[in-house]
Amino acid sequence: MPGSISFAGRGVVGPPLLLVHGFPVDGAMWRGQLDGLGTQARVVAVDLPGFGHTPPLSEGDATPVAATVATMDQYADNVIAVADALGFTRFVLAGLSMGGYVALAVARRYGARLAGLALCDTRADADTPAARQQRLADADRVLAGGHQGHRFLIAPSLQRLVSPSTPTKRPEVIAHLTSMMERATPAGVAAALRGMAERRDARADLRQIAVPALVVVGADDVITPPEAARQLAAAIPGAELAVISEAGHMAPLEAPDAVNTALRRLLRRAAAA
Ligand code: MLT
Repeated sequence: MPGSISFAGRGVVGPPLLLVHGFPVDGAMWRGQLDGLGTQARVVAVDLPGFGHTPPLSEGDATPVAATVATMDQYADNVIAVADALGFTRFVLAGLSMGGYVALAVARRYGARLAGLALCDTRADADTPAARQQRLADADRVLAGGHQGHRFLIAPSLQRLVSPSTPTKRPEVIAHLTSMMERATPAGVAAALRGMAERRDARADLRQIAVPALVVVGADDVITPPEAARQLAAAIPGAELAVISEAGHMAPLEAPDAVNTALRRLLRRAAAA
């Protein structure tokens, strides 16, 4: 585990809300939630190791970079370390895509710490064998690429991450996504790819989730489409489903107001539970 995890926070009153980013971006993807929810909640967006301002797991570690795997359980430990440091005994947790895999690992291992759970544009099942092989090949290519690192992933990822309407309606979202991807470290990207490749199938865990839950999905998400989100929500007792129009896989960044409305409902349900 690295010596420090970077995070950004807003708000000094209200329930704690921890936000975990997707791949290969960082905590700044939650800027609309930091700005929009900071008057009602203590909102904290973490940078997982190797992303944003947090150094990769391999830094200062004896394990060679090529062998470093950032498991979803390790990331869950990083989230709990931030909660502990901030004195958040119980908190509402939201994770997007890879951040959702992390949120499910937190729910499984630290369920008593959760007051509510939001799963955004994510899934509970594991990779197929082909997807796993592709991730491992991509991890090798990232590390073989020297200073070019993971650049080959950026253009194809950008196209699939957002709604077809976003590049023209909100070009600043594309610029923001690009800069987050560019500042990710190759070591962090490779370790995350390996970690996602070996993540468990969490579908059987869903019925154990005993806190108010919300599933958010962009109506135009092609990576984790609305039908998959419907199934995810149906598997979690009492979960609400919010389908966000004119948004793709990066719904909280593409349509922050609509996602914040759903998150406010979750915060109210968590406070009442
Ligand atoms: C993400 O947005 O975090 C990725 O789509 C997750 C993945 O590659 O499975």
